[in-house]
Amino acid sequence: MCGIVGYIGKRQASPLLLDGLRRLEYRGYDSAGIALLTDGKINVFRKAGRIENLRKAVSEANPLGDIGISHTRWATHGAPTDENAHPHLDQSGKLSLVHNGVIENYQSLKDALKAAGHVFHSETDTEVLAHLAGTIYDESDVSDPKQRLVASVQKALARVKGTFGVAVMHADVPGVIVGARLGSPLVVGLGKDEQFLASDVAAIVAHTRDVIYLNDYDLVTLTRNSYEVSSLDTTRTANVQVSRVDFTEEDSEKGAFEHFMLKEIYEQPQSIRNALRGRLNRDEATAILGGLNMSSMELRQIDRIIFSGCGTAYHAAMVGEYLIEALARIPTEIEFASEFRYRNVPTTKSTLQFVVSQSGETIDTLAALREAKRKGLRCLGIVNNVASTIARESDGGVYIHAGPEIGVAATKTFTSQVAIMTLLSLLFGRMHHLSSTDGLELIDELEAIPEKIEAILKQAPLIKEIAQKYAHAEGMLFMGRQINFPVAMEGALKMKEISYIYASGHPSAELKHGIIALVKPDLPSVFIAPDDAVFDKNVSNIEEVRARKGPVIAVTTEGCHELERITDDVIYIPRCKSILSPLLTVVPLQLLSYYVALARGCDVDKPRNLAKSVTVE
Ligand code: G6P
Repeated sequence: MCGIVGYIGKRQASPLLLDGLRRLEYRGYDSAGIALLTDGKINVFRKAGRIENLRKAVSEANPLGDIGISHTRWATHGAPTDENAHPHLDQSGKLSLVHNGVIENYQSLKDALKAAGHVFHSETDTEVLAHLAGTIYDESDVSDPKQRLVASVQKALARVKGTFGVAVMHADVPGVIVGARLGSPLVVGLGKDEQFLASDVAAIVAHTRDVIYLNDYDLVTLTRNSYEVSSLDTTRTANVQVSRVDFTEEDSEKGAFEHFMLKEIYEQPQSIRNALRGRLNRDEATAILGGLNMSSMELRQIDRIIFSGCGTAYHAAMVGEYLIEALARIPTEIEFASEFRYRNVPTTKSTLQFVVSQSGETIDTLAALREAKRKGLRCLGIVNNVASTIARESDGGVYIHAGPEIGVAATKTFTSQVAIMTLLSLLFGRMHHLSSTDGLELIDELEAIPEKIEAILKQAPLIKEIAQKYAHAEGMLFMGRQINFPVAMEGALKMKEISYIYASGHPSAELKHGIIALVKPDLPSVFIAPDDAVFDKNVSNIEEVRARKGPVIAVTTEGCHELERITDDVIYIPRCKSILSPLLTVVPLQLLSYYVALARGCDVDKPRNLAKSVTVE
């Protein structure tokens, strides 16, 4: 949520910053800005709207400067206007600052600064921080300008309550950028005679793959040729490790696809193969998940599992609950990460907690992890972003290896998370009741999934036609039973996120307990009804909708033609083991929402009001 890019080096900073911001736009896209330090003066450009608006403003002025900081914003305090866009300046106009996160005590700080004569030009909490750091700098008696800037940032942050990732520069301290983090990610990119600072490696991977992921409380001082990491917390020492990024610039490009979301939908056969690679043991008919960092004995003793996550990750966790209960018979509970920390979930000595997150940075999920650890639970992560805070703070876990996901609406990471849940169920299942024959059958079926997804993707033209037919519906209902109930929730979420059609997902049987009151000729219902043990029950629910003249789109299994008679449109998925069907049934729903959004002229990759990585509560 919000993206920061900083550059200091020998090249012109503005094109690098703008390109970096473009790659971070998924983190927020309601306004953007850049500040350059040129001839001892700070030049600021800020524009509401997409980065393209900023690019135009900057290219008209064509500013020079080999040091700069920039920001793409997802508004928390203050509307997305030019004035509220970052970077913000202090009272003297010499200190410039960009910020991710929320400063909770900004109002009291602002009141005190106002009383001292400070004048503010925005409604943001960030401008308050800029003024605070600037005033501390001005009053400081430290003579070395670099040390003075570092000490001022340190002191200002010590007075802040909340979360931050910041980048700061000062007109009187040329050749220095100071960064610091607490709760919002920051990564340093090490180049030759140049250094970068960013919220995500995606912004800088085109220039360097040698990076330092900063930890909470780290403060970094960058010059063109050096970096120094210290701690904001005097009781800690900074732990600095240089890592090599394992993906390239091309991995985060759209290629021939019109949108990232479509590219990522089409990547699913491969991303699932990547999630499974090296993790299936046919001899023992089980899964190999070494990253759990637990012995077989410890795993066998687990008597309760809790999953938490947000959004799509939560829906994947819901599928995980069905899988673990069915295959491993271990009591499993799921909880929204945002609720977990406010509940007092009873646990046993052998409870295992998993947090599920694509980004590994979602603040609510991170808070659930910390709460679980505080209570002494072992907490593992199911994460895509290997360098993320959740990946680093958890006791172990499983990377989903889906590669960068840029489209704000999660697609391939859902199926990869579900693939990992299946491996977990297989692993736990084989330690308890699951026979080797059943384990092997599951492995065979799992390995066949990517090819079956390829078959579904071939039906994109049909799904596009169906989408165009319903694109102007005022709402949509999604219904599924058992393990496809979470898929109904996920289908509805996709539809809401990118097409802005109000949609909700329900267990099919709940229809008659209230939802049926909504059914009418212009409100389509999507039924996920594969040929499984509850197929007939789904058929009855479809009939109930038909009887009230509600249009029905069904997702069902190939060869199951019965639904053609009682529905308006049918999308077929290849036959598979029922318990694995979410890996297939979700794909047509992703495509359906994509094409509906397209028909409605929506910005598929950057839906309004959303951001991919939500680092505020
Ligand atoms: C945001 C995104 C969702 C995502 C959720 C959880 O709300 O818009 O698409 O599912 O965060 O993100 P995570 O990175 O933790 O999986």
